[in-house]
Amino acid sequence: MRRLETPWGAKVSPAGFGCAGLGSRVDARTGLRLLEHAVVNGVNWIDVAPGYGDGDAESIVGRLPAAVKRELHITTKIGLAARPSRLRRMLAPLGRPVVAALPGLRPLLRGSAGVMAVALDARTVRRSVEDSLRRLGVEQVGALLLHGPAADRIGHDETARVLETLVASGKVRSIGIAPDAVQPVEAHEADIVQLPATLFAPAPLGTRFAVRHGALRALPRLKRLLRKSAEAKNLARDHASDPAAFLTDYALATNAFGVCLFSTMSMPHLDRLLARLDRDIDPAILGVGAALARLAHERGL
Ligand SMILES: NC(=O)c1ccc[n+]([C@@H]2O[C@H](COP(=O)([O-])OP(=O)(O)OC[C@H]3O[C@@H](n4cnc5c(N)ncnc54)[C@H](OP(=O)(O)O)[C@@H]3O)[C@@H](O)[C@H]2O)c1
Repeated sequence: MRRLETPWGAKVSPAGFGCAGLGSRVDARTGLRLLEHAVVNGVNWIDVAPGYGDGDAESIVGRLPAAVKRELHITTKIGLAARPSRLRRMLAPLGRPVVAALPGLRPLLRGSAGVMAVALDARTVRRSVEDSLRRLGVEQVGALLLHGPAADRIGHDETARVLETLVASGKVRSIGIAPDAVQPVEAHEADIVQLPATLFAPAPLGTRFAVRHGALRALPRLKRLLRKSAEAKNLARDHASDPAAFLTDYALATNAFGVCLFSTMSMPHLDRLLARLDRDIDPAILGVGAALARLAHERGL
């Protein structure tokens, strides 16, 4: 798979494997199988956080062999952690088949996910990073991002100092922010700005290395648009006959010098994603995407 060179000298895949569902949407065994499949096929950017997978995702990544992990660029985060819930853990194996059969429930469950904000004083940050390194079974992470509301702390003196010491000690290679929504943040202190971006709600590219997620979240709306508008169907004729492939290509084309995160807990979907990654993308897709988004806004679809 082709590689991008980051400003801090890492060679990374243009697509990253998002671990938000490892251990929650799928059990550890299935999650590890999906992760291994992505890695064997060339994906080396892994996006995880202490709270992902109800607190289990980092440990699942940690089960990869050490030699494999040395070749990966693992991004983890600080600022949000899993809220311990025995009830949630007990119910997860029963709930997975229900959610798999009724995917419409997912946004509701995502909203109730057990994460909580953690303080960002020097001691808590150091402990959070040490815990992440231990669960991941690595001595260094490729990036450490300030997660959710914590992103606002990037310019604060105490946070900046502790981040600097983590980089200087070699435990963290680069730092960045991952706010929940696009906000006017000029994060000069950050190497990475990670934001949601979809066909219908793009994120501006700034001067920092851009990581984008959420591309496939636009799938239901794109399908509805193509169903309801003959003009959209006509526009998409040559490009969007497979809407999921279109959204994947569009995300990669709009962030050609950064990384696009994808999160699929389905092997057939993962294979379809991997099949897109070494293709040349027709630049015309950018115009088609912009026109489809405009149409959706104009028609309220
Ligand atoms: N604040 C932050 O930093 C933040 C916030 C959110 C997410 N993230 C990161 O970004 C990653 C990506 O998350 P995302 O939810 O935004 O991912 P996404 O890839 O945009 O969307 C994932 C959804 O698309 C579905 N999907 C994937 N391929 C498909 C296909 N071919 N056909 C139909 N459906 C398909 C998946 O279902 P299946 O599983 O069934 O394939 C899943 O429901 C997360 O894992 C996490 O690492 C970061």
